[in-house]
Amino acid sequence: RVTDIAVIGSNMVDLIAYIDKMPKAGETLEADDFAMGCGGKGANQAVAAAKLGADVLMMSRVGEDMFADNTIQNLAQFGVDTRHVRKVPGVSSGVAPIMVDRDSQNRILIIPGANKHLLPADIEAAADDLRQCKLIVLQLEIPLATIYRAIEFGNAENIPVILNPAPATTELDLRYACRCDFFMPNETELEILTGMPVHSLEQIEAAASSLLHRGLKHLVVTLGERGALHMHGDKRTHLVAPAVEAVDTTGAGDAFVGCFAANYIATGDIDSSIQRAVQYASHSVTGRGTQTSYATAAQFDSWLEDVGAER
Ligand code: RIB
Ligand code: NA
Repeated sequence: RVTDIAVIGSNMVDLIAYIDKMPKAGETLEADDFAMGCGGKGANQAVAAAKLGADVLMMSRVGEDMFADNTIQNLAQFGVDTRHVRKVPGVSSGVAPIMVDRDSQNRILIIPGANKHLLPADIEAAADDLRQCKLIVLQLEIPLATIYRAIEFGNAENIPVILNPAPATTELDLRYACRCDFFMPNETELEILTGMPVHSLEQIEAAASSLLHRGLKHLVVTLGERGALHMHGDKRTHLVAPAVEAVDTTGAGDAFVGCFAANYIATGDIDSSIQRAVQYASHSVTGRGTQTSYATAAQFDSWLEDVGAER
């Protein structure tokens, strides 16, 4: 059986508090509202792609706790193949306490738990199934050694690889990023990876250029409400986002990556896939939570019509 996309990455249980302001040290504050949902950058990307109709296999680790079965069932409910989502005895599942303020900005703390136990040897163990995939999608919430092994595997099997360097770390060996077909940071990640300022579009382009010149193939920088920038060789394309009222931006980057992957697999066209991914991420910020705010293909199409977005 051929699978469209293999997402090798994290899952977390998101514990989201909607707050007015951050508590200071020693202070107790009451928040307006709370929501618990399935998250984690890997799982979010897998669910976004599956909701849009892609055939997705997820490789991930959960702990031995009350969250484990729920996480697996949640993925399965969206049609994601969970054969390689396994429980690790004696550890907790990944958890992410998140605070979202009035301006829809988020602050996220991740406790990786079982996600730390997805190991390079697991790539080998799943090789027969991974080989059937047309695209590999990676983020940075699992051990770097596993990510490097997955990139090597993709290269050896001629399977294109997307690396979303989130959350960013300067420990990432950019030589591996250069072996991926697509490298997709957001502005903050670009800043961390280059050490260059990213306040204006000019600065973002300069930082992105410096990164591209390290030998990246396709560099796609997501810019929030400003859309996304695609750089490849001497080519620069800026895809703009529709104007929306943001409620919760958590997981918008994952919506982008998942939607890009689904469209790229379906069409093979990069810029139109980026354009759709920008729109899909824009839609996601209009709803609370991460996966709970991701649209199905039908919901997305009718929303695009409503906002009169470029098709
Ligand atoms: O990108 C958003 C995600 O980051 C959340 O779902 C949270 O779990 C963290 O992994
Ligand atoms: Na959202």
